Amino acid sequence: MANDKIFIFDTTLRDGEQVPGCKLNTKEKIELALALEDLGVDIIEAGFPISSPGDFASVEAIAKVIKNATVCGLTRAVQKDIECAAEALKYAVRPRIHTGIGSSDIHIKHKFNTSREDILERATKATKLARNLVDDVEFFCEDAGRADNEFLAKLVETVIAAGATVVNIPDTTGYCLPNQYGEKIAYLKNNVPNVDKAILSCHCHNDLGLATANSIFGAMNGARQIECTINGIGERAGNTSLEEVVMIIQQHKSLNLHTNINTRKLNPISRLVSDTMRMPVQSNKAIVGANAFSHSSGIHQDGFLKEATTYEIINPEDVGADHSKIVLTARSGRSALAHRFHKLGYQFTRNEIDVLYEQFLEVADSKKEVEDSDLKELADEFNSTA
Ligand code: KIV
Ligand code: ZN
Repeated sequence: MANDKIFIFDTTLRDGEQVPGCKLNTKEKIELALALEDLGVDIIEAGFPISSPGDFASVEAIAKVIKNATVCGLTRAVQKDIECAAEALKYAVRPRIHTGIGSSDIHIKHKFNTSREDILERATKATKLARNLVDDVEFFCEDAGRADNEFLAKLVETVIAAGATVVNIPDTTGYCLPNQYGEKIAYLKNNVPNVDKAILSCHCHNDLGLATANSIFGAMNGARQIECTINGIGERAGNTSLEEVVMIIQQHKSLNLHTNINTRKLNPISRLVSDTMRMPVQSNKAIVGANAFSHSSGIHQDGFLKEATTYEIINPEDVGADHSKIVLTARSGRSALAHRFHKLGYQFTRNEIDVLYEQFLEVADSKKEVEDSDLKELADEFNSTA
């Protein structure tokens, strides 16, 4: 089976920046765009040019500095949005317009107060207009996660016929189960004539904590682009986490997929995004959280110290993280204690460790984490009375 490339479409600067409090100025957006290019993302969604003069300026500035990645601007399926995006992208080496409209009956009725037929007409017009302005047009079928599959297939067929090069199937509300999202992609692959003329893209939200799983199921069923953000930031509960999908694809060779991401840059860019957006990363976040490579319970520490792969499926260096950590708490065991004493330059016998361990537990029960200074105190006192 061929090892297919998954195009990584980063939307940290657009969907990610929609998070309250995470708004970026042009200088910050340029810095992050350059870091994303350096990371190896294929497409950078730089912003929504018609939304504000500041965002127009940011997209234009990013279009000027990015040389390898495609630079993309979001629009509604509206003439003035599309023309504005084309203008903002005019300096891009590889410009892409990302236009689209609601595809679920909920959106068609409540947002647009219109009919499915009208949606097809607006989609055709928007795609054709965008294709007259740039060669690369992505069409998003908003709320595809809750759309009727037969109508969705018709919409995808229509926009491909109108010239879309990529068709985005967003689970806008993060509603789908992984098998449902995967089946949706498979349905489109099997039922849309000429579907292979375009790339199907996954854009999943994390309202039920399923964004990463849904994106992977989408890829397993034929989607070849994943839309994601650094640290999974984005509207409400966020978007698919870039670092998670990339590492799943890397760790599971049986998927027969690959990306262009330099995984050693994942932790540095996570910190850069977190600092720039002033958005902390939760400690237990996969791949980039402070505890992602920390071991605290005695059973785990003992196994890890014998052989790291007993409790680590990823080498921290491969994702640019600091080395693995053994955290000493009241749940730690003798081997972790002996290991840390050894690192601090103390040599104790097994029997001595047994005695020291009882004293260690007393300290550990009184605080969250035992520090090296606590251990030095214990060891020095032990040595002085020995
Ligand atoms: O979640 C969504 O549907 C979106 C579209 C604008 C692509 O962000
Ligand atoms: Zn979104």
